[in-house]
Amino acid sequence: MKPKLLIIRDIKRDIINKLAEHFEIDYQPSCSRKQLLKSLQGAYALLNYGIKIDEELIQHAPNLKLVSNISVGYDNFDTNAMKKAGIIGTHTPYILNDSVVDLTFGLMLSAARRISELDAKIKKGLWTVKDDVNYYGLNVHHKKLGIIGMGRIGEDLARRAKLGFLMDVSYYNRREKPELEEQHIYWKPLEKLLAESDFIVMLTPLTAETKNMIDASKFKQMKNTSVFINMSRGATVDEKAMYLALKNKEIYAAASDVFVQEPINTDNPLLQLENFTAAPHIGSAIYETRDDMAQLAAENIIEVLIHGKRQNVVPELQILLK
Ligand code: DGY
Repeated sequence: MKPKLLIIRDIKRDIINKLAEHFEIDYQPSCSRKQLLKSLQGAYALLNYGIKIDEELIQHAPNLKLVSNISVGYDNFDTNAMKKAGIIGTHTPYILNDSVVDLTFGLMLSAARRISELDAKIKKGLWTVKDDVNYYGLNVHHKKLGIIGMGRIGEDLARRAKLGFLMDVSYYNRREKPELEEQHIYWKPLEKLLAESDFIVMLTPLTAETKNMIDASKFKQMKNTSVFINMSRGATVDEKAMYLALKNKEIYAAASDVFVQEPINTDNPLLQLENFTAAPHIGSAIYETRDDMAQLAAENIIEVLIHGKRQNVVPELQILLK
């Protein structure tokens, strides 16, 4: 008998067929929490999108050996609980980088040139004056970009910012990357990066160390003409501090693709601010990109469980592999 694979995301038929060569498929793309916990009872692997893999879920999954995330971020993994239960976790790095970088530029441009704010005004019939001085914004080209969290996406953002917008790019990362210096991309201490950058893009993964990393004291270090963009996870930024920094004009504008609570509460005060642009966590929300991510997540399951490879196993759980 083949081991059972539970799939809780709508994915293409040909990907399911490939998985069905090795697994008995339990396909439940829109199951309730109750159904999920029931179906996990017999599952050997889970093709996952967004579900938190914590102690409670693990208790309902006595046979689970692998969770394959259709995402690069894996802050939904309680890696300690998974390690204890012997559950391997995989993710989908690289293939979404360009889509996330596209959206980053979209948000940078929207915040700097006030595109969403002015679009909303026009639609309310408020384009009343010919003199457009009220609609002035900021340049993006030739400005200083500071990237916090220089992983795969950060490096792609840096290259494209240099090539496409002729920006001067620096980054802050725990580990310095001297190999980037030949591309004139330089490491700076965080305080210096915050104080000097015109655009600051947050890309660091959410971990115990990065939770609320950008708090009130960090916003105070930024220039009052700066634009802050969060593309990482909502909880890396203190949302209340960001709200106050925007309201008190300590920074010029901000935009975020990620929030502490998703979907966001409609009464979140950030949504009242003209100088804040919100996106509903759509960094990789492109048909081709999501198909590629699902394909890679499926390959990860086969490579790890059938061929005994380490393909895209998250670093914290590599220890589970011989
Ligand atoms: C990821 O894959 O972690 C991204 O946040 C999806 O947009």
